[in-house]
Amino acid sequence: MANAAATLAETAEHVTVSAHANGFAAEIGGVNLSQGVSDSEFARIHQAFLDHKVLVFRDQPLEDAAHQAFGARFGTLDGHINKSTRQKNMPNVQIFSNVGSDGKTTGVHPEKGTLVWHTDKSYTATPSLTTMLRSPAIAKEGGDTLFADTARAYDALPEATKTRISSLRAVHDWARSRIKSGERPATEEEMAAAPPVDHPIARTHPETGRQTIYVGNHSSHVVGMTVPEGETLLAELEVHATQQQFIYRHKWRVNDVLMWDNRCTLHCVEPYDAAKEKRAVHRVVVKGDKPV
Ligand SMILES: [Fe+2]
Repeated sequence: MANAAATLAETAEHVTVSAHANGFAAEIGGVNLSQGVSDSEFARIHQAFLDHKVLVFRDQPLEDAAHQAFGARFGTLDGHINKSTRQKNMPNVQIFSNVGSDGKTTGVHPEKGTLVWHTDKSYTATPSLTTMLRSPAIAKEGGDTLFADTARAYDALPEATKTRISSLRAVHDWARSRIKSGERPATEEEMAAAPPVDHPIARTHPETGRQTIYVGNHSSHVVGMTVPEGETLLAELEVHATQQQFIYRHKWRVNDVLMWDNRCTLHCVEPYDAAKEKRAVHRVVVKGDKPV
């Protein structure tokens, strides 16, 4: 299988992969996502995704249908628990925007939970494999998306910490993470749809086999520890994983498509002035495996 993928990738040499310093994040060129990608192009993109964890496609003025179709190449699409974000007639496309129907800013940040470090949908039994965003409107100041490489961060942990977390599990709870990030409380329906789950803190990536630190704002506490002890450990791991040497900062351009591997990264959005700046992203999420 690996050889077949390599052969396919070699036939799509027009697809360029320009990795950033230290190999975390890469810019992909030579594809037009609005026309879809061939099997050989997909093989090359998929390998770059595993190698670099965050991929940037510039100048891709996509419609929602093409955005969704590109996401579906990676697996089964997943809607957002907050139904108000779902695109009408296309519920697997979510819109986070502070641009009102009158074209002016609403003054309200569309999702405060994006401002803190997290990995998407870790509060579900099968969290997101990848998230793909495109950017019809960007902020002039602020609004960068930051990523932390939690595989490299895991490798850099002291051996004693690796041993300590090797069998620990964290509870991930969407209702609690909303309260922590200052959003409206979850509704009864939302809580029923997303009850707390627990996942290993040291996660094994299902495709690369690398160990990663799987924490973030949706993680609430640690199974078998008091809540304060667990919160302290989770905070220490997050602080470690989000040190400068593990970070890629994405500065948005209009019509960027940005995708990342939620199994081995954390991300957050830098604050921006939601009263002055118009910012809109359309999002497609692909469901992943049960973390092990
Ligand atoms: Fe997110």
